Amino acid sequence: MGKNRLVVGCQWGDEGKGKIVDLLAAEADITARFQGGANAGHTIVVDDTKYILHLIPSGIIHSGKICAIGNGVVLDPFAFKEELDLLVERGIDYTDRLWVSPATNLVLPYHKLIEAVEEKSRETANLDTTMRGIGPAYVDKVARQGIRVVDIFAPDRLKRRLEYQRVIKDKYLTGSDDERADLERTYHELIKLTDLFRTMVTDVSLALHKAFKEGKTILFEGAQGAMLDIDLGTYPFATSSNTTTGGALTGLGIGVRMIDEVVGVVKAYTTRVGAGPFPTELVDDLGEELRRQGDEYGATTGRPRRCGWLDLVFLRHVVRINGVDSIAITKLDVLDDLPAIKVCTGYKLGDRQLSQVPLDLAELGHVKPVYTELPGWLSDTTGTTDFGALPQKAQDYLNFIADDLGVKIRLVSTGAKRKETITILT
Ligand code: IMP
Repeated sequence: MGKNRLVVGCQWGDEGKGKIVDLLAAEADITARFQGGANAGHTIVVDDTKYILHLIPSGIIHSGKICAIGNGVVLDPFAFKEELDLLVERGIDYTDRLWVSPATNLVLPYHKLIEAVEEKSRETANLDTTMRGIGPAYVDKVARQGIRVVDIFAPDRLKRRLEYQRVIKDKYLTGSDDERADLERTYHELIKLTDLFRTMVTDVSLALHKAFKEGKTILFEGAQGAMLDIDLGTYPFATSSNTTTGGALTGLGIGVRMIDEVVGVVKAYTTRVGAGPFPTELVDDLGEELRRQGDEYGATTGRPRRCGWLDLVFLRHVVRINGVDSIAITKLDVLDDLPAIKVCTGYKLGDRQLSQVPLDLAELGHVKPVYTELPGWLSDTTGTTDFGALPQKAQDYLNFIADDLGVKIRLVSTGAKRKETITILT
């Protein structure tokens, strides 16, 4: 019986979870996604074919494996349909392999319209979201006025609930000539998807428990990163869901003992897309160089990512809040040409020295990083598959990270392709 692993991003998303999930999904029977929506962009490269998945768990690329979308996800049914069509175009058959929880809230066109208005008019700083309607959909969920997958099967109730949106979202919808405000149209478009959803709707919690009891292996797939968690991240510069381990429990309806190992994905440096504090950001040529070498542009929005050094201070927090057991370090090869590599090992806040994140994570906007400088290895590690074959200085860099965080390194990614991987723990 394989291990049931949970994969969480340890930074601000874009750590390379797509590839790690893809590798680990090969060893699992089921991959289950527990939060977020089409704001995610998981890139997987198989035999020179690139797949970017937003909603569907990356495990779908493996034929015969089951994928589940849990109630913690917010699902844009139209984006979902497009993604399914794309899979079919690529010759991937998802029939009987995709479970969708009936309790999953839907992201509907009016959520995107609301987000567009709100992002412009926000009193505080613009949050620089992905504009996929994620925040407004989670607002509706928490306010208990969302529309869920199960509502599609009850047309009268669906109609009533949509009409109620007009009442509560009056200031956005009434008088708008934007087609996203057209609830009648949304209703008809949703009804067209009834048969599609009927083939997939499953009590995900029950099905996962049953699979667990039968000894099947489950991989739990998170989206975004721990520092974007609504409760434990850099609020308000966060996404609207729990991206951390706890999100898997509530987002799928599973018990804590169903998770054997939490695998944290850590990029060998740090990136952030969108606004918010970033202590180790490099706003100079070096930052530009990392962006170029790492091809750091958003998979969902194409936005350039902000780049900087690895930050062990917030990673200590992230390891703790997720209960990370092992880490997968990605994009090591991006650092190949650097003569010296800095790692943030502490912060200065005024005249205080901190080894942990400040009480208020918003203060990350005011801390000054304290760096430890390590020598670069100045040689090409791309495609290395054996830890011992890495230059000693690259090994030292990786061990420095693992020792500080008190975790084991499960694997190291040395390129985008599946085979460009060093597997350390099996
Ligand atoms: P939202 O999730 O679209 O509401 O965006 C909130 C914040 O999270 C913004 O700063 C986004 O750039 C960021 N974000 C959301 N999803 C991702 C992701 O998958 N990768 C990286 N950043 C993300």
